[in-house]
Amino acid sequence: MRYHYDVPGDDFSRAGHASSEIKKTLQRLGVPADVIKRTAVAMYEAEINMVVHAGGGKADVTIENHAITIVMSDTGPGIENLDLAMQDGYSTAPELVRELGFGAGMGLPNMRRNSDELSIRTAPGEGTTVTMVIRIPEARGAAE
Ligand SMILES: Nc1ncnc2c1ncn2[C@@H]1O[C@H](COP(=O)(O)OP(=O)(O)O)[C@@H](O)[C@H]1O
Ligand SMILES: [Mg+2]
Repeated sequence: MRYHYDVPGDDFSRAGHASSEIKKTLQRLGVPADVIKRTAVAMYEAEINMVVHAGGGKADVTIENHAITIVMSDTGPGIENLDLAMQDGYSTAPELVRELGFGAGMGLPNMRRNSDELSIRTAPGEGTTVTMVIRIPEARGAAE
C-alpha cells in the first residue's frame, strides 16, 4: 500500500497531519503498537522539519508486510552540515518557532533512534530527502 501527502509549509496548525493519518492506518491494520509509535514519532519529526525549515514538501509512505518505508522530500534550503544537524540539541530554528514549542534540536536524533534505517540526501540549495525504514517483526506464533 502506498500513501502520498503534500505537507503544507506555512501552516503550523496542520503540521503533523500526514503522520497522524499514517498512525491511524497502521492501527487499522493491526501493526504492533511499538512499531506504530516509532513510525509516528519518526514521521512526525520529519514532517515538522519540513514545515519549520523547508517550506513544506511531500511524504510518500509504503506499507508492506515486513516494513514501513517513509520518504519525505522537500525543495527547501538543504542542510549545510549534516553531522552537526544530527547532534542532540542542535537547531537553527528561529526564536518565534521555539516559542511555539518546536526547535529543541532533537528531531533528527529522534528520527535516527526510532527508525531501523535512516538515510538523508541533502545539499545546500537543493533540498532534502529523508528516507526511513521501520521494520515490522513477524508476529510470534503466526507460523504455528
Ligand atoms: N528538511 C530540512 N531542511 C532544511 N534544514 C533542515 C531540515 N531538517 C533539519 N534541518 C536542519 O537540521 C537542524 C536539526 O534538526 P532537528 O534535529 O529536527 O532540530 P530542530 O528541528 O528542533 O531544529 C535544524 O535546526 C535545521 O537547521
Ligand atoms: Mg526538528
